[in-house]
Amino acid sequence: MENQKKNVVIVGASGGIGSGFLSRYLEDQSVGHIFTLSRSKLDDEFQESERLTTLECNIENEKSIADAVANITAPLHRVIVATGILHTDKVDPEKSLSDIDKENFEKIFAVNTHAVALLMKYLLPKLDKENPSVFAALSARVGSISDNHIGGWYAYRASKAALNMLIKTASIELKRKNDNAAIIALHPGTVDTQLSKPFQNYVKEGHLFTVEHATSKMKDVIEKTQASDTGKIFDYAGDEIQP
Ligand SMILES: NC(=O)c1ccc[n+]([C@@H]2O[C@H](COP(=O)([O-])OP(=O)(O)OC[C@H]3O[C@@H](n4cnc5c(N)ncnc54)[C@H](OP(=O)(O)O)[C@@H]3O)[C@@H](O)[C@H]2O)c1
Repeated sequence: MENQKKNVVIVGASGGIGSGFLSRYLEDQSVGHIFTLSRSKLDDEFQESERLTTLECNIENEKSIADAVANITAPLHRVIVATGILHTDKVDPEKSLSDIDKENFEKIFAVNTHAVALLMKYLLPKLDKENPSVFAALSARVGSISDNHIGGWYAYRASKAALNMLIKTASIELKRKNDNAAIIALHPGTVDTQLSKPFQNYVKEGHLFTVEHATSKMKDVIEKTQASDTGKIFDYAGDEIQP
């Protein structure tokens, strides 16, 4: 890997955290090519360049994922899945069982859980087998069963707990197929994006991260990840979170 540049995929590069990761990896001169998969257009600051290929993708549609990934032939060294939803236009996160809405539940699982399983299906086989690589999916501390002390947010918590299980399960298969690779989950902290906007009033002073801060910290965690870390959940500081 010493002379070879890293190829990176960022899924959800139109989002708050995804666009931060795109900036961080564009700044990194050890990176060769970056492929973005996103449903919406990227911010204007990201001009098409020889190092960047933008691919349209709705992750709720398997064919859309397969078609986008078919454009990627280079072996991959970093895959970051920064998609996710906490609330929909119609429904806020549930405070109580009585707020549970089946349609909302299915939507949150479709994006946070089912889609990431499909992204694993198409992207894990593209990881370089000869050199170290990392697949990192954005999860959330609230998806930790052992760390759940206040309840609520049924669909989001359950979708992220199930995502954490998918990562652990895929790590076992990946170890057999590519022992240079690691698949991990990341908790970004509370970050100033559209997703956290409605809840920022409840965040303690000094605990709301900028996108730049959160993505710099998480990039450090990704770059330090070893194959032996596979299947684990890390926060932005690199501390392990128990499932
Ligand atoms: N922000 C926080 O405080 C926080 C805390 C803990 C965990 N997280 C996790 O971090 C991740 C990123 O969150 P964020 O704060 O960056 O949220 P965000 O700004 O709302 O970005 C979410 C991204 O997901 C994409 N997306 C949603 N549904 C999609 C679909 N069907 N197909 C393709 N893309 C889709 C959005 O695409 P469009 O641009 O097309 O809508 C957007 O790019 C999520 O997994 C979230 O759960 C965030």
